Amino acid sequence: MSFFVPLEQEAYRTLEQGPYLKGLLRPFKGKGGLEAWANQCLTLRDELIALARRRVLSPARAHPFSQFYVQLAQQPTGAGTTFLRWRSLDHARMGTALWGELMDDPATPVSLLDELRAIEQERVTLNMQIGLIHAIARQAQACAGKMEHAETVYLRRMNRDGVLVQTGITGPPYFRLRRYLPDDHPDKGLEIGREDSPDAYIAHLVDAFHAVREVLADDGTLWVIIGDTYAANRNFRTASVKSSPKHGRAQAEAGGMRLGEGLKAKDLIGIPWRLAFALRGDGWFLRQDIVWAKKNPMPESVNDRCTRSHEYVFLLSRNARYQFRSGRLARTRVLSRRIGTHPSGAQSAGRQRRIARQPVQHRRPMRNKRDVWTISGRPFTGNHFAVFPEALVTPCILAASRTGDTVLDPFMGSGTTGSVAARLGRRFIGCELNPAYQSLFSTEGDAP
Ligand SMILES: C[S@@+](CC[C@H](N)C(=O)[O-])C[C@H]1O[C@@H](n2cnc3c(N)ncnc32)[C@H](O)[C@@H]1O
Repeated sequence: MSFFVPLEQEAYRTLEQGPYLKGLLRPFKGKGGLEAWANQCLTLRDELIALARRRVLSPARAHPFSQFYVQLAQQPTGAGTTFLRWRSLDHARMGTALWGELMDDPATPVSLLDELRAIEQERVTLNMQIGLIHAIARQAQACAGKMEHAETVYLRRMNRDGVLVQTGITGPPYFRLRRYLPDDHPDKGLEIGREDSPDAYIAHLVDAFHAVREVLADDGTLWVIIGDTYAANRNFRTASVKSSPKHGRAQAEAGGMRLGEGLKAKDLIGIPWRLAFALRGDGWFLRQDIVWAKKNPMPESVNDRCTRSHEYVFLLSRNARYQFRSGRLARTRVLSRRIGTHPSGAQSAGRQRRIARQPVQHRRPMRNKRDVWTISGRPFTGNHFAVFPEALVTPCILAASRTGDTVLDPFMGSGTTGSVAARLGRRFIGCELNPAYQSLFSTEGDAP
């Protein structure tokens, strides 16, 4: 039974009166969203300051207003923002009273009174807008700090009670392959995979996985499923590892990728290994590169290289010794010619049942699972187009956790890891940027 139900967007429905408040009136679930909101406000504040300078300050300091003994000036404040103020030419006095004196002065031509009034109206309005937006940004920054504190206290208690994540299994967004949020979404700035350089992308992932390590058990592991990307510039359409029209369009919309850094258009970037080395540099033990060989790779319209049909699954651990139950993955090899084994070592469930019924003398010792996993990709008709096959996630969960352990997916998407974890009796924590994908998550798993 829950005593507190977190707010959903619905709770804000009647409060959404102005588009400018859209980003504020929603349920923030962590410091990241608040920081992004604060940054948006600071950008808006700076745009307002630039507008004030361009459209009010400049004309108010030009002829004919430059002849007056009172002038408009831009004054920075100690709080880090800038307002428009009236100032005497000798800088001795400041404030609205000066504008009042100018309006009262018989020497001020009547023909300019309307415009002086309009300048004052614009000044007051823009100062109010700049001040409000600045204050919201400051509040959001302060609240982000409080959110972080709440998170630390929560994790400290979880750690003390031994509630730790046993294994993280995830596929982060691939570099510049897809867009998961519309461009005008308030959380767009948080979306990983949209960075303009591989280094920036990898730095974000290293940070994200560093946070995962904070909640990982001492003998915990992390499995990262990751594919590569080709370097491209804006007009270069074949950048995707999956160059279907959908991916090509998404990449074209993503705008320019910053080349340089030793990269030319058409170069394979080497994202998986760059990431693996960066994670190792951050303290992870890089234990294995598993190749996910796809039975049904996406077709590519290329004729100067082979069609890509693999991605990597990196196994990383927090410490040198970690939970890995190889027996849960091992294959029994059978001597009997009648049943035999597929050359790949893969066996269907029916074949495994028949093996289990074989007399023991017909079986060979267990064979350790190999590091090339041949698995079909998973077609998906819902709203998420990067869904992983359950068969890819299942061995990771079986090897790296026990019943009742907690599994984490920091980029859960439609929640494949969560569905398999639930079916195997594990607890699950998932993080996802796009709340729309929540409806795709099911603990039922794939229909048989
Ligand atoms: C490759 S998909 C994961 C697919 C998932 N394994 C599945 O089977 O459905 C990556 C997900 O990460 C999400 N994402 C992107 N940036 C994120 C961030 N900063 N925090 C959390 N999730 C993010 C995207 O919205 C996307 O759903």
